[in-house]
Amino acid sequence: MRRTSRLLNVALLTACLAVLLARPDDARGQGHLTLYCSPQIEWCQLMIAEFAKASGIKVAMTRKSSGETFAQVKAEASNPKGDVWWGGTGDPHLQAAEEGLTLEYRSPRLGELQDWATNQARAAKYRTVGVYAGALGFGYNTELLAKKKLPEPKCWKDLVKPEYKGEVQVADPNSSGTSYTMLATLVQLFGEPEAFEYLKKLHRNINQYTKSGSAPIKAAAQGETTIGIVFMHDAVTMAVRGSPIKVVAPCEGTGYEIGSMSIIKGTRNLESAKKFYDWALGAPAQALGAKAESFQVPSNKTAPTPPQAPKLSEIKLIDYDFVKYGSSDERKRLLEKWGKDVKSLPH
Ligand code: G6P
Repeated sequence: MRRTSRLLNVALLTACLAVLLARPDDARGQGHLTLYCSPQIEWCQLMIAEFAKASGIKVAMTRKSSGETFAQVKAEASNPKGDVWWGGTGDPHLQAAEEGLTLEYRSPRLGELQDWATNQARAAKYRTVGVYAGALGFGYNTELLAKKKLPEPKCWKDLVKPEYKGEVQVADPNSSGTSYTMLATLVQLFGEPEAFEYLKKLHRNINQYTKSGSAPIKAAAQGETTIGIVFMHDAVTMAVRGSPIKVVAPCEGTGYEIGSMSIIKGTRNLESAKKFYDWALGAPAQALGAKAESFQVPSNKTAPTPPQAPKLSEIKLIDYDFVKYGSSDERKRLLEKWGKDVKSLPH
């Protein structure tokens, strides 16, 4: 009896040892990475597959919009589950940095980046960094527009005209970084009182506030809405895939995003997180965007800008104040005001 149990114990111990030896990285907690990913799912999937191949690190990934991911990182602050938050608009990354939810890290790759990417890092005391840039605009379904005999919208001011009632879709700025970029852009472009009057008028033309920022242009591609307010590169993706989508840079000028990346404070896989961070700032990793039909401008100076990417130098860009509109107070204030003064209005 005693001999059997001793044998059993030895067998159990051997099995445990075998597991530990077979997965030495797991035992040290360094062979895993949980990535919170906010850009297009196709790009997220390609990134994790290529990183896993290059590093041998196992990656678990969830795709959620920028505002939603910020809320999740904040909710999990006392028991963090994610390691790196990659992509999504920069404003909520800056807010996370200010609220102490992300970790300071100076990648040896910082010197390879465009000024707009390192400025973002400096503004956040190196708790975030720019990974790509893209301008806001809108796109429309040319076939639907013609069928409905609607004029071509060219400017922000066109979108609030009564003839577009029920024809426009945009995301909810609470969940979506794209839509918060629109809110902050309009405030900077027209001044706050006029921007809110504009948003109230726009509300009458909105058929749906979606959760994700790019959903409106996917809906336009499928003929479910005529116009979608999105980042211009997201509209380009739909056109490249063969949908009758025309991309518009609004005539008054527009804002832009610095898609960002941050290491989550309290990460249990710091070494893996740093490996991913350094890898994601490199030119080969940044070239993966185009392969996933994501046409942002990469932050690494030597990464090729996809030829389909809207040319930022040819778009009338505002001098977007990332420090102000990425600050915790301002983002909270504008979102609350939008909820109270705009979303609650009847259509
Ligand atoms: C799309 C764009 C990204 C952007 C992201 C924000 O995926 O391609 O450039 O960062 O939207 O997503 P969200 O759902 O937060 O608006």
